[in-house]
Amino acid sequence: MGFTAIVPAAGSGTRMGAPGGKLLLPLCGQPLLSFTLLSLASSQSVDKIVIVTREEDILPLFDLAKSLELDVPVTVVRGGATRAESVLSGLNEATDADWVLVHDGARCLITPEEIDRVAAAAKTRGAAAIGVRVKDTIKVCDSSGKILNTPDRSTLWAVQTRQAFSSPLLREAFSKLTDFNVTDDCAVCERAGIPVYMVEGSYENIKITTPDDLLVAEGFLKQRGF
Ligand code: C5P
Repeated sequence: MGFTAIVPAAGSGTRMGAPGGKLLLPLCGQPLLSFTLLSLASSQSVDKIVIVTREEDILPLFDLAKSLELDVPVTVVRGGATRAESVLSGLNEATDADWVLVHDGARCLITPEEIDRVAAAAKTRGAAAIGVRVKDTIKVCDSSGKILNTPDRSTLWAVQTRQAFSSPLLREAFSKLTDFNVTDDCAVCERAGIPVYMVEGSYENIKITTPDDLLVAEGFLKQRGF
């Protein structure tokens, strides 16, 4: 389906307590990022991968991608100080792509089927993201912890950063972005007034952020036979 996957992987790993970054931490005996790359490469939609990482990780991640013998070409480029800057750096590398799919390196539990579903939705609607309906009741609080209000749960989704776009739309959205402290690419589009549509995903697709996430991810991967 002609998508270039941009994989932001330039985080500092602070919340994981992994100063060297978390994406090479072992999961079921393999570096975490390898599960992400294998799923992307075996989807029907992705025909190229651009990994965006820290300067010092460019070579190790290139070697990892090479060792996986993926069916699609992989390039590795340097990221920025924020996730949005890293995505923009990937977008600048993917100059010939008509369609892009941004997928966080730290979401290693994705399946090729989910990737294809969000890609198909983007092809019909221009921009789409995968998420799940929120199970908890969410509170908005001030800095003292005082509850300010309770949004209607039936309208709330937890977005998972697997988001697919027509490249011209995402480029237009980034060209209007002034504050790069946004945590996903839908928000970049929202600020530019570009509609993004949600596709229902799976609760298994957690983002690996803190050490307890590694235990949960390993449980899911073992269930899948790893
Ligand atoms: O910080 P957070 O866990 O939300 O980051 C989500 C993803 O964005 C991770 O895969 C991380 O490596 C990536 N990231 C990045 N560049 C940054 C910060 C985060 O590529 N400057």
